[in-house]
Amino acid sequence: MSGVDPAEDGDLREVDAVAHPEDGDVETSLRPRNLDEFVGQPRVREQLELVLAGAKQRGDPPDHILLSGPPGLGKTSLAMIVGAELGASVRLTSGPALERAGDLAAMLSNLVPGDVLFIDEIHRTARPAEEMLYLAMEDFRVDVVVGKGPGATSIPLDVAPFTLVGATTRAGSLTGPLRDRFGFTAHMEFYEPDELEQVLHRAAAILGIDLRADGAEEIAGRCRGTPRIANRLLRRVRDFADVRADGVIRRDIAQAALAVYDVDELGLDRLDRAVLRALVQSFHGGPVGISTLAVAVGEEAGTVEEVCEPYLVRAGMLARTPRGRVATPAAWSHLGLTAPPPDAPPALF
Ligand SMILES: Nc1ncnc2c1ncn2[C@@H]1O[C@H](COP(=O)(O)OP(=O)(O)O)[C@@H](O)[C@H]1O
Ligand SMILES: [Mg+2]
Repeated sequence: MSGVDPAEDGDLREVDAVAHPEDGDVETSLRPRNLDEFVGQPRVREQLELVLAGAKQRGDPPDHILLSGPPGLGKTSLAMIVGAELGASVRLTSGPALERAGDLAAMLSNLVPGDVLFIDEIHRTARPAEEMLYLAMEDFRVDVVVGKGPGATSIPLDVAPFTLVGATTRAGSLTGPLRDRFGFTAHMEFYEPDELEQVLHRAAAILGIDLRADGAEEIAGRCRGTPRIANRLLRRVRDFADVRADGVIRRDIAQAALAVYDVDELGLDRLDRAVLRALVQSFHGGPVGISTLAVAVGEEAGTVEEVCEPYLVRAGMLARTPRGRVATPAAWSHLGLTAPPPDAPPALF
């Protein structure tokens, strides 16, 4: 299943965890540069510290590293940090760019010893390239096939010892053989509100924004546990603070600004709320099938399923059941409604 490309439908959501085109440059400037600057993820940070320190002590490249987790939690940042901590350069590519084995062979043959090769969205690597990767990861060797048909020959080529850092939003769709070749897998978790406040304060300092503690707290509660969204909301609130106020971000300014962008106090936007309202009001809380629900809000089923649902489920407002989607009592109360008692028959008209 392919992800929904937010750029495709022209209607970018402020609470989208996937990068928008306009995020690019700012994100680069806000990326933490080393493990100390990397906020949160204490387990991952500690484990990674050990992996990197051990390798440095032995003078070998560290094990291959898989970074797994939802978009916007810092996978790309961590990959760059691995390079920085090792004093190595990072070569970047992505699964979708490795369509043919030759694409990968070209990358691999350009590596110098100790390099970090970062493959983003590694689960989308095409099969032939993936198979070449097995040997490269294991033995620092590739077999390049030259020619076609019966005359084809396979030429073994040495690859400089390197560390592969793979990132994936779908660890489950990685093949077994690929997953097994990573020595270390970091599972990224959603961030806690106090960690997001730290992310926000750090970004505000870099961007020269006067962000007060209560303003940070307000934004942190609305960014779905995701640093990328935190940084984006901070920029929206900054615009509002600059244009409509004195530039200082306090709680009331953050609230007023995010009301303009329809991001509510739990980080739900208009589409999320439309889905909840349809579920609660048109279908009496469900169960209802995803496609029926999608039609009710005028969206494609894939958008509702991939873009809205994960967070609604995580926020405890929507449940997936074998018979369809169901609203939880939290959904009703979030909309200011009272959930019917558990066994009440559906209302009659
Ligand atoms: N742990 C963190 N500490 C500080 N900022 C972070 C952290 N994780 C992510 N960010 C911010 O969020 C943005 C998106 O992170 P990124 O590494 O691109 O996420 P991913 O690759 O998982 O989608 C980065 O530009 C960075 O500013
Ligand atoms: Mg990334």
